[in-house]
Amino acid sequence: METSDAPVKPGPGEWWQTGVIYHIYLRSFKDTNGDGVGDLRGVIEQLDYLGETLGVDALWVSPFYPSPQKDCGYDIADFTAVDPLFGDLATFDELVERMHRRGLRLIIDYVPNHTSDQHSWFVEARASQDNPKRAWYVWADPKPDGSPPNNWTSEMGGSAWAWDAATGQYYLHSHYADQPDLNWRTPEVKEAMFDVLRFWLGRGVDGVRIDVAHMIMKDPDLRDNPPNPEGAPSPFDLQHPDFSAQRHVHDRRHPDLHGVYREMRALLDAYGQERPRMAIGEVEVMPWDDWIAYFGAELDELHLPFNFGLIETPWTAPALRASVGALERALPAGAWPNYVLGNHDRARLASRVGPAQARVAAMLLLTLRGTPTLYYGDELGGADAPIPPALRHDSLGRDAARTPLPWTGGPHAGFSAPSTPALWLPLAPDYRAVNVAHQRAESRSMLALYRRLLSYRKATPALRVGSYEAIDGGTEQCYVYARMTSTMRLIVALNLTGEPVEVRGRAWAGGKIALSTYLDRTESLRQDTLPLRADEGLIVEAPHQ
Ligand code: NOJ
Ligand code: CA
Repeated sequence: METSDAPVKPGPGEWWQTGVIYHIYLRSFKDTNGDGVGDLRGVIEQLDYLGETLGVDALWVSPFYPSPQKDCGYDIADFTAVDPLFGDLATFDELVERMHRRGLRLIIDYVPNHTSDQHSWFVEARASQDNPKRAWYVWADPKPDGSPPNNWTSEMGGSAWAWDAATGQYYLHSHYADQPDLNWRTPEVKEAMFDVLRFWLGRGVDGVRIDVAHMIMKDPDLRDNPPNPEGAPSPFDLQHPDFSAQRHVHDRRHPDLHGVYREMRALLDAYGQERPRMAIGEVEVMPWDDWIAYFGAELDELHLPFNFGLIETPWTAPALRASVGALERALPAGAWPNYVLGNHDRARLASRVGPAQARVAAMLLLTLRGTPTLYYGDELGGADAPIPPALRHDSLGRDAARTPLPWTGGPHAGFSAPSTPALWLPLAPDYRAVNVAHQRAESRSMLALYRRLLSYRKATPALRVGSYEAIDGGTEQCYVYARMTSTMRLIVALNLTGEPVEVRGRAWAGGKIALSTYLDRTESLRQDTLPLRADEGLIVEAPHQ
């Protein structure tokens, strides 16, 4: 199936442009075999919820590969198999088949930067300095005083180098020491990892989410990173404890990685001749000019580099407007925007912005121009959960945003059978009130708001493919913008504060409120002022101008 012709250039309206991606943290979505850990069968069982009740278009499923689970599956021991913890290949194939029958797309995690130290490649590589697999990883001699080869730091904190006493060298691990970095400068590594892509694309996956896409190439001379005197850690970034102390110019974002992504894109495009395939890359927040490079100079690299900008933007109208405006200005012609408000590495949205603003955030995410990625559980307004130290899995505190999805108020919140001895992580303490069954029955619940926003977005071309324009509403409290096609003009007005406010402008006089985040008003507007209650967001169908 790899008969490469001309590269497939995306036209407007591809599924990954108009659709909404739902991020499933597999361990915590739905357990079907009573071991307390979510599994692939659980996703199959909940396709009605995802496709019909909620109405999302694509699922990104976190890693399900054989793994010692030192980094919850991001430490992979075999890239082309399914860990029995999550199911088997037949279940995976069934998932793909059932999703495609419903028109849902599947994006899987692809982790090119590192393997588990239990991967057979690394077991061989560490056997001796002259093992043929040695060059598949990044090894270096100690400094004369025995210390690590350079000052690079791990994403998890501390040095990125681990000493291997048996062979007398250090190996590089940009994350936990159990996750040695692959050396993409070795041609066999690239071939083997491209074979991994071929394996899953051949089984029908529609896309890959590329883990730490900005990290796969490093400075070949392993030079020290310069210090970063201004570095200030982000309070929401749980994953990079001492990241900001250095300017990561030699261990991240190396220009040579773009060549790899061009080749990867050609491979995806070859499969795309049968059905569109895509790559969405995890790329850290960086200046927009650097970020857009991941689309490729000819839009021939990643379809979408994840945009985490809003996660780190202060939750005020001027700051959000500025962040979106900067992205809109930076995007090259033909490149498509995307937005993310939460994931398994960050504090939960409702904990960052508060429960009232979480509803405004839902409207923002689903009305901006670009592909939204929605983190599982945010549709219920779920908050970070306190995890007692004895039950923690992750040394960085990320468990708080990874707790099992509460389906009901019953035993184990319906996540697992009542007879299951224990769940892998405790439930959020408010699960009896905050769960899918309860919120389905409540006409103005957070789930009801997400359902309404998703169905409205699906039915409204101005939201899916329309243009974006910021509007001056005459107040700093509100973020106001228009989404337009040639036949429709929508105004979105978001009150980012807990005080009522009126926004002014002629844009909406004669229009009609289509949706309030409170789900209780749809009146016509007669004047130039638009009154918003505290923490309210509105979509107004304005007369076209
Ligand atoms: C990013 C993933 O999102 C995170 O969970 C993981 O720990 C690292 N990459 C390493 O794979
Ligand atoms: Ca299970």
